[in-house]
Amino acid sequence: MTGLGIDADRLLGRLRTLGGTGRDDKGRLSRLAASDADRAGRDAVAGWMHDAGLEVLVDRIGNLFGVWRAGAEGAAPLMLGSHIDTVIDAGIYDGCYGVLGGIEVIQTLRDAGLKPERPIVVSAFTNEEGVRYAPDMRGSLVYAGGLGVEEALAAIGTDGTVLGEELARIGYAGPQEPGFLRPHAYLELHIEQGPVLEREGVPIGAVENLQGISWQRVTIDGVANHAGTTPMSMRHDAGQAAARVVTFLRDRVSHANAPTVATVGCMGFEPNAINVIPSRAVFTVDLRDPHEGRLQAEEAALARYLDELSAAEGVTIAVERLARFTPVIFDPRLVEAIEAAAKSHGLRSRRMTSGAGHDAQMMARICPAAMIFVPSAGGVSHNPREHTEAAELVAGANVLLKVVREVAGLTALPNKAPAGAVSLPSQG
Ligand code: GLV
Ligand code: MN
Ligand code: MN
Repeated sequence: MTGLGIDADRLLGRLRTLGGTGRDDKGRLSRLAASDADRAGRDAVAGWMHDAGLEVLVDRIGNLFGVWRAGAEGAAPLMLGSHIDTVIDAGIYDGCYGVLGGIEVIQTLRDAGLKPERPIVVSAFTNEEGVRYAPDMRGSLVYAGGLGVEEALAAIGTDGTVLGEELARIGYAGPQEPGFLRPHAYLELHIEQGPVLEREGVPIGAVENLQGISWQRVTIDGVANHAGTTPMSMRHDAGQAAARVVTFLRDRVSHANAPTVATVGCMGFEPNAINVIPSRAVFTVDLRDPHEGRLQAEEAALARYLDELSAAEGVTIAVERLARFTPVIFDPRLVEAIEAAAKSHGLRSRRMTSGAGHDAQMMARICPAAMIFVPSAGGVSHNPREHTEAAELVAGANVLLKVVREVAGLTALPNKAPAGAVSLPSQG
């Protein structure tokens, strides 16, 4: 059975099909959570779950599950997951690779007639990207008990929509209570989305930790005035103040000898007219660092800078927290299992830190979790140029297959979940 491998054509074909599903009128892949495009993607994924012989279930926050009921009665399932929502103008691999890779692994095991000791479940979590409804990883956060389902469903999107209404509209507001399957372990297969594996020529990343994420929205209020008549010394220019924050962050973070990263990804001015000094600037700040202490220090430095700026420019500044997740350490035994699986396939691996947020970081709250990375060409992601070679995608899925075979037969991995937690709902 060591020669067992996934069906490469099936996996790659589904990736291409899903990548073509839910494109906008400009041809861009913008499958924002709970949109019509997301519905089209979910319908395709649910169809492939059925084809793989899985029972398809949906929970109240719209997380989609394909369940292979196998193994001992009441045994906690092994969960394989990721997401199929995307950013605006996305590539086709981010998240989709993990969901389709999970289906592929289960289908391969079933077709081979293998009988795991526990159920195996594939999950596609709602709104991982957080582009439409902050915070990101919302579906898995709710699933892991980090956010109440009612509060999560009431979220207002960047387009003014309500998540719960949108899920109902697209037919994916399910009946299951989030957390209904308490996993034995969680594994997520994902593209790296960074340059490390490609640069080092290593095909497999065994992800041992994931950096902390801080998202804030900053609103600066100044005074609108005439662009031609107002002397520079008499302005309270919200746009100028916002620009100073962008350069402050870049200068500070790039001169610190640390892996901290800072991004201002959204910015808007009011009234947004060529000859009017902006009265208001609204922008987002995404700060990340693998060390909680440093992340806190960067947040504090930004807060001090905003105070100084407010006094210097005569503007008022308000800050709203959109997301805050502490760094996560993944389960060392799963990380070792990934390394061993790579080795058994003759593939080099390296341990690494995830720079991106992932559903695995939420699932790590309730069960042992880890991730497998494969290279991203040029380190490009959140961009239609996102690319991973077919052979690398297939190799990563085969490493997942190997780890699943180990973990689905393991009984020694202690579950962090409370004793007696429900494993599977009754059938039907
Ligand atoms: C999710 O993709 C994130 O890291 O922002
Ligand atoms: Mn992702
Ligand atoms: Mn992403």
